[in-house]
Amino acid sequence: MSSPSEPVTVSFAASAPGRVNLIGEHTDYNDGFVLPMAIERHVTIRVRPRGDRLAVLRTQRDRRPVTIDLTATIHPVGRSWSNYVRGVIEGYRRIGFAIPGFDAEISATLPAGAGLSSSAAIEVAMATVVETLCGRSLPRAEKALLCQQAEHEYAGVPCGIMDQFAVCFGQAGHALCLDCRSREIEPVPIDDTVRVLVIDSGVKHSLADGEYAKRRRECAEAARLLGVSSLRDVTPADLSRAVPALPATELARARHVVGEIARVPAFVRALSAADWNAIGALMGESHRSLSTDYAVSCAELDLLVELSGRIPGIIGCRMTGGGFGGCAVALVEAGRAEETGRAEETGRALHDAYRAASGIDAAWFLTAAASGPTVVVE
Ligand code: GLA
Repeated sequence: MSSPSEPVTVSFAASAPGRVNLIGEHTDYNDGFVLPMAIERHVTIRVRPRGDRLAVLRTQRDRRPVTIDLTATIHPVGRSWSNYVRGVIEGYRRIGFAIPGFDAEISATLPAGAGLSSSAAIEVAMATVVETLCGRSLPRAEKALLCQQAEHEYAGVPCGIMDQFAVCFGQAGHALCLDCRSREIEPVPIDDTVRVLVIDSGVKHSLADGEYAKRRRECAEAARLLGVSSLRDVTPADLSRAVPALPATELARARHVVGEIARVPAFVRALSAADWNAIGALMGESHRSLSTDYAVSCAELDLLVELSGRIPGIIGCRMTGGGFGGCAVALVEAGRAEETGRAEETGRALHDAYRAASGIDAAWFLTAAASGPTVVVE
């Protein structure tokens, strides 16, 4: 089932995927390019319509229900996980969706706090629930922006548009080259001789702790000093000429952003040409730049990337998402059809090398690019 055209009054399950970003990190809020893909890990909300106007939500972990009155303005509550859901429901209420009551049970195959956009997945899954119950859908870009707004207002995270767009527009077998200024999306096929490996450093990240917002402010200040509305308008040549005008921190942040924006179209070209050497080099440059100039990596992510360079079958590896912990993403050789198991061996080898060096038993999985939200009537 895709866009609902009339209210659904039976039980159903809405799922939304997480995402990994292949390249283009911390560029979305600088109007730049990003190249994320939706993954085969989801947040699922099972829904049973009720006869009243209450939403009663349960998660697998916390059985105590959260009850929301759908007839009155909904406010955020402390630092509760339910704020993502509250913000999305309130977003639809504000634009005139009369949401009928429902019971919901939320479960996930997507780890939370690992930099795989579990927050965008829960937001988009709830948006899909609301649209299904009401029998009305927003255009996908508006749905993504409503979810981003919920995250800003109800979770206090001033995120860019990448995560919600990647989750809403996910396309099987494709990464999405998103121009965060025009919001145009170009799906880029991922060759089936490679697989995507996601490995969790085991360091929990939190974007709400202020560092993310600080990077945004530093970028805005760099743009102001350079006389442009965003760093998208700065070329590497402009930046070298402007070195004396910028304080060291703003210069380093701008160097990352300007270089990273240029790496995205280069990566897309390399992917289309199956130029794996170029892809490996671009991922390595991206990680180094995030670690040194942007200062959003950590010792464990740096270690994972360093170890990946010694493991045969790994094409390239870098941290993915906001950083300060969370996951690394690697492109790995899948080999020919008769070599099934080769990518698994590569993943296992990275896991083992990381455990030997750090003592951390990291969770990891292989994934292909997946499609966006789905609804299944039960
Ligand atoms: C988080 C944010 C995104 C983006 C990335 C960094 O995932 O939610 O908007 O800024 O960090 O690329």
